[in-house]
Amino acid sequence: MLLAQIQETTAFIQQKTQNFQPEVGIILGTGLGGLIKEIEIAHMLEYQHIPNFPISTVESHSGKLIFGTMSGKKVVAMQGRFHYYEGYTMQQVTFPVRVMKFLGIKYLLVSNAAGGLNPSYQISDLMILNDHINLLPDNPLRGKNEDELGVRFPDMFETYHPELRKKALEIARKYQIRANEGVYVSVMGPNLETPAEYRFLRTIGADAVGMSTVPEAIVAVHMNLPVFAVSVITDLCYEGHLKKVSLADVIAAAQIAEPKLTLLMKELVASLN
Ligand code: HPA
Repeated sequence: MLLAQIQETTAFIQQKTQNFQPEVGIILGTGLGGLIKEIEIAHMLEYQHIPNFPISTVESHSGKLIFGTMSGKKVVAMQGRFHYYEGYTMQQVTFPVRVMKFLGIKYLLVSNAAGGLNPSYQISDLMILNDHINLLPDNPLRGKNEDELGVRFPDMFETYHPELRKKALEIARKYQIRANEGVYVSVMGPNLETPAEYRFLRTIGADAVGMSTVPEAIVAVHMNLPVFAVSVITDLCYEGHLKKVSLADVIAAAQIAEPKLTLLMKELVASLN
């Protein structure tokens, strides 16, 4: 049973971290692990040593749970996340979010690398998610609902916390960081999209496309955990700017954006009550 597994993992982590109680959970996307440098680290656990945790398979993700202090708040950060395309089940992909909630986080902050569909976007822009479209072929809530975790039919009217979005936009404005609100569409991957698919995704109302974040957001909503998510635009996927893209391009663009993302996240964490 999922609840029993979450409880087992939570107890293990509490024992290993001398009951460190994080207030904020952070998930870092591809090429965006640099925020870790801003954390005064108290404890670090490798995924492979945590019971029930999946182990990350992509080289660009190193796979650690990091506990420490940032901007005066106790945080837990996932360095490396799990993607559906790696072959995990949706329950595995979202398991760490469940555990972080049980460890006590009050907010979940997520970052990802994404392709820009909105023609006003430029490489290394930030996009603050104000909504999403889920095109993943599975759902982390599929199966018998465990009522201790959340309701059967969670409402998704305001998936991304309005207050956190507003604060993030204010921070971006203050530091002159290019950032807009937009709609993220999640696809399975691992291949990037064809030009026709990018046109389709734009047509259905998305501003950016990526392969993560939506399962974590759904599970956060299921557990009544306020969630904030931001995309770093790593490639442009609209007419006139489409070209071949490699993982190296995505990581290079993410690294250019990283200082902006780090500043935004630090200030956002500082502003939380
Ligand atoms: N498509 C899907 N996922 C992505 C992209 C993209 O163009 N860029 C970064 N992640």
